[in-house]
Amino acid sequence: MSTTYNPSQPIGIFDSGIGGLTVARAITKLLPNEQIIYFGDTAHMPYGEKSAEAIKSYSVKIAEFLKFKNCKMIVIACNTASAAGFKAVVKETGMKDLIVNVIDPAAEYVVKHHYRQKIGVIATKRTISSNVYAKRISALDPVADVVQLATPLLAPMIEEGFYNNKISQTIINSYLSKSKLNKIDALILGCTHYPLVKNEIQKFYGKSVEIIDTSIIVAQYVKTVLEKHQLLNTSKVNKLGFGKKSQQFFVSDFTQSFEETSKIFFDEKVKLKQFNIWEE
Ligand code: DGL
Repeated sequence: MSTTYNPSQPIGIFDSGIGGLTVARAITKLLPNEQIIYFGDTAHMPYGEKSAEAIKSYSVKIAEFLKFKNCKMIVIACNTASAAGFKAVVKETGMKDLIVNVIDPAAEYVVKHHYRQKIGVIATKRTISSNVYAKRISALDPVADVVQLATPLLAPMIEEGFYNNKISQTIINSYLSKSKLNKIDALILGCTHYPLVKNEIQKFYGKSVEIIDTSIIVAQYVKTVLEKHQLLNTSKVNKLGFGKKSQQFFVSDFTQSFEETSKIFFDEKVKLKQFNIWEE
């Protein structure tokens, strides 16, 4: 029996930690009527250094939690979890195209705007070693030249507040100077944290390279999928308790420092609630 959903149900969003709040922020900006339930797996982060098997099992467990919370859609905001866990999440939840990952929308966008060109991807070690961006882009454009570089220092650097300063610019320049990325036409920011250093990356390239912020593209994609399934919430917020005030943010391990850092990713203060789904 297939489950039916309705527009007033929340959108579930999950990530390895709090970086996925960049995706949550883009979704709430574009779709202010939607209620979101966010889950950050801070107990297991960073996923970028974990095995694919571990990430798969974490992802399925979190998706089941969000389904239990009555979500009409689940967005895997984390690139690393999208690479390792997407297929398993689709299979285990049975929610089919109401499961959104962050890689397919970016691949579709880049093929549309940079057909047969040279595309760079920067991401965590796990995402790069999975080769997922190259596979998805090549499936749509076999002639595209996809070059990928792991940039593992960037996520912890940003989390520690190092962005828009001399130190971060030096580290970014050093990564982007690698010969692999020479003469690219576009660069996909394949990690939740990288929108925060988009300006610094753009500064390195000037206008010659399009820097693709996947959080914005994913938010557009979420809108399109909800419209297609007639699940977009068009009613004004709050009458039923939906909207900004009822957004919920869960983490599997709470620390004060996560709560403080979350502000840089979401633009405003976020109240994090500890909920360890592995102990329930
Ligand atoms: N959220 C992860 C991603 O987008 C980055 C942080 C991590 O390694 O857990 O790949």
